[in-house]
Amino acid sequence: MELTQETVVVITGASSGIGAATARRFAREGARVVLAARRAERLAEIAQELRQSGATALAIPTDVTDPEQAHRLIEQTLEHFGRLDVLINNAGRGYVGAVEETTPEMLLRMFAVNAFALWYVTAPALPVMKAQRRGHIIVISSVVGRWGYPYSSAYVAAKHAAVGFVAALRTELVGTGVEASVVCPAAVDTDWGKVTDGGPLGDLYIAGIRRSKAIAAERGLPLAPLSRILSPDDIAEQLVQLVRSPRSDLFTHPGTAELAELAARDRETFEQRMLPFYLGVQQVYAEWRRNAMPE
Ligand SMILES: NC(=O)c1ccc[n+]([C@@H]2O[C@H](COP(=O)([O-])OP(=O)(O)OC[C@H]3O[C@@H](n4cnc5c(N)ncnc54)[C@H](OP(=O)(O)O)[C@@H]3O)[C@@H](O)[C@H]2O)c1
Repeated sequence: MELTQETVVVITGASSGIGAATARRFAREGARVVLAARRAERLAEIAQELRQSGATALAIPTDVTDPEQAHRLIEQTLEHFGRLDVLINNAGRGYVGAVEETTPEMLLRMFAVNAFALWYVTAPALPVMKAQRRGHIIVISSVVGRWGYPYSSAYVAAKHAAVGFVAALRTELVGTGVEASVVCPAAVDTDWGKVTDGGPLGDLYIAGIRRSKAIAAERGLPLAPLSRILSPDDIAEQLVQLVRSPRSDLFTHPGTAELAELAARDRETFEQRMLPFYLGVQQVYAEWRRNAMPE
């Protein structure tokens, strides 16, 4: 799809991280952007910043886990701009907890924002995109939508559901002129790992990676193949290119497409390669639990 001043792009989770960077990047391309998230003040500040730089930007405070608010987001976008070309389902949140500690409430919260919201926001956007015979639905899943990471099973499973959502959606979009893509980033330098429910998952993984080096050395194993952290701007740039040249799957970090393929083909070999990381995180998690988790 060509990006012009007519193009309307809705981005959920636009109050920080990847979503905010993506709003800025599409605005720079001249597109009209609609920013959605719960923190109204932050959204308004970003929209104001974009307008000051000459862009057309609209902030619509939205909790995407509420079907009515999700519907209203699309309705207000159409009232305002009369069309909708790109929807980026980016809102998401993680948590820290072993499988046996994951409560029914946490399960619901993780699936509500990372999976159910995809239906709530996408469904009202589809009729207009189909009528336009032009549109692109993008879902930000994660590499953990393709393989497992420890102590976040409900998030991991919900991100797998996001991959399944796009796979199913694509089968209904055949011949409609509407595209759908799933994006699977590895680590990105945002607030995400700090604001996880139940403690900072990012800190757990960083400490686990440090520990994994000693474990790998002790056991004579190669280090787990973890990719370099990218910036939200790196991801935003790739999303602009994805809209220009659509494809079903985007792995943003070098080497992760190959790892996803290995995990799909031979999970045990994949897990062997990750072993120092899994053991490192396991040790650190046990210590955290004994000494109380960091806030
Ligand atoms: N950072 C990583 O390493 C990484 C890796 C792979 C995938 N991802 C995925 O990338 C996406 C963006 O995350 P990020 O890294 O940019 O983290 P972030 O800075 O924490 O951004 C998350 C965004 O989601 C919004 N959000 C959370 N719950 C929401 C709700 N109920 N309704 C509406 N918006 C909601 C937050 O805004 P409010 O709090 O204002 O609502 C925020 O704008 C997420 O789906 C995340 O799972 C991140």
